[in-house]
Amino acid sequence: MPQSVQVITIDGPAGAGKSTVAKELALRLGVFYLDTGAMYRALTLKAIRSGMNLEDASGLVDLARGTRIRLENHNSGTKVLLDGEDVSDAIRSPEVTNKTFYIARTGGVREILVGWQREIGARQSIVIEGRDVGTVVFPKATHKFYLDADFEERARRRIKELREKGKQIDEDSLKTELKERDHKDFTRSIGPLKIADDAVVIDTTHMTVNGTVDEILKHIKNGS
Ligand code: DC
Repeated sequence: MPQSVQVITIDGPAGAGKSTVAKELALRLGVFYLDTGAMYRALTLKAIRSGMNLEDASGLVDLARGTRIRLENHNSGTKVLLDGEDVSDAIRSPEVTNKTFYIARTGGVREILVGWQREIGARQSIVIEGRDVGTVVFPKATHKFYLDADFEERARRRIKELREKGKQIDEDSLKTELKERDHKDFTRSIGPLKIADDAVVIDTTHMTVNGTVDEILKHIKNGS
């Protein structure tokens, strides 16, 4: 990685505040924000739409090879383009959220997506967020962070976020789904969610977004 290119990784479980924090951090640093989860989601959407068998690992790898996913940062938010089509909203549906684990557990697909993510980080400074970005994608990142929060708080944030978008939420099913997603993220044999040895761990349970970003910037300034 050229010296001038800075890669800041943020890993953590769903609802720990990664996206909001990573977006704000990238904005303050004036660098590219890379949401790796959006790539896994976009490919899942394409697989669902094509009606293919999500258990078919080699089919999923072929699908990934023939796909173009582009992420653009705009003032209004991140735009996700799947083969040129704007799927920014479609990838946030409950069906995509609950089926992304098929793509995420497929080693051959992860290799392809990790390759795309490395290419983006090789040519510009980035704040990248996901599950394996400090451990697998950029093990030599300039700065690594792991955001965590209590389960109840993570569930509360997800419920609030979805309600703000006008979605009807059954709290118990959301909690069950979040628990299942955590389990799949932590126990995946390839690219599981874990804390990199050299990551700074921040518990955001009682922290605001700006407070978390300030804390991260303090660590970056101090060289951790
Ligand atoms: O960050 P998110 O909730 O949008 O991610 C959706 C799913 O994608 C997540 O449950 C697991 C998978 N994912 C992954 O396996 N590796 C990443 N680097 C990012 C996301």
